[in-house]
Amino acid sequence: MSTQIPKQTEKAEETAETETEAPSKGDERRAEKRRRADERRRQREAEEAEKAAADENTVELRVFRYDPDVEGKQEPRFDTFHVPFEKGMTVLDALMYARDTYDSSLTFRHSCRQAVCGSDAMFVNGGQKLACKTQIGELEEPIRVEPLPHAEVTKDLVVDMEHFYDQMEAVEPYFQTNEYPEGELEEQRQTRENREKIKMSTRCIWCSACMSSCNIAAGDNEYLGPAAINKAYRFAMDEREGEDIKQKRLEIIEQEHGVWRCQTQFSCTEVCPKDIPLTEHIQELKREAVKNNLKFW
Ligand code: SF4
Ligand code: FES
Repeated sequence: MSTQIPKQTEKAEETAETETEAPSKGDERRAEKRRRADERRRQREAEEAEKAAADENTVELRVFRYDPDVEGKQEPRFDTFHVPFEKGMTVLDALMYARDTYDSSLTFRHSCRQAVCGSDAMFVNGGQKLACKTQIGELEEPIRVEPLPHAEVTKDLVVDMEHFYDQMEAVEPYFQTNEYPEGELEEQRQTRENREKIKMSTRCIWCSACMSSCNIAAGDNEYLGPAAINKAYRFAMDEREGEDIKQKRLEIIEQEHGVWRCQTQFSCTEVCPKDIPLTEHIQELKREAVKNNLKFW
């Protein structure tokens, strides 16, 4: 896992290291507070484990914890929670149970709870998944839940999405056209075949699971990434946009950190919770770019 903790933690560690040479009263108090908090946590875990052993119908969750703002929680760690299993339970259900029952400070994003909003992508048992779509019953225990790799962790399972949104914005992810229908209320129609062609690409829910799984994006922070390129595909292949706008889109995706960076590893396609054939779309845009360039010869 390459969970990224913001640099301030390192600074805090450095400071802590220099200060250990001559601990002040404040440091000693804080260390004592930390020690007691750890002890309470260990005790709680031991009690839960005991209860869980008595009740076979529980699942064990190991959840990544980190809070840069609270003393004693700045050191990344895993907390163990035992959650009563129910048929149909998802990872999100289990996390909500853990938060509501054991630790109200456990932090994660969620909203729709039905794989629509894209807010709860996480790293579950070593794979990028939507917590609300992942069945507990299909996972091996203990279930390890971590924030998305290759993104900066803000707190616990929450990562900073700003970079991902910037990459999406870079491809101008909105419909643009020069030709409007005559009547003010007339629909801008599209052929059935064209709708069919772009159908899968319209399903993106901006969860960032694909970006998190991509080796190229991990090594090149400027790479547009699979989701943004898919978004460009969605509009570049829309017959209603017109040739000049398509040309502009191809120029965006053909830039140094665009489609040609993709090494066809399929990791994005494998993790996409909406089954979008991302690698295929990237390959198709590469072909379009080549055809477009040949036009000028
Ligand atoms: S393409 Fe798939 S994995 Fe990537 S952001 Fe969209 S829905 Fe999520
Ligand atoms: S909570 Fe909306 S996608 Fe999971």
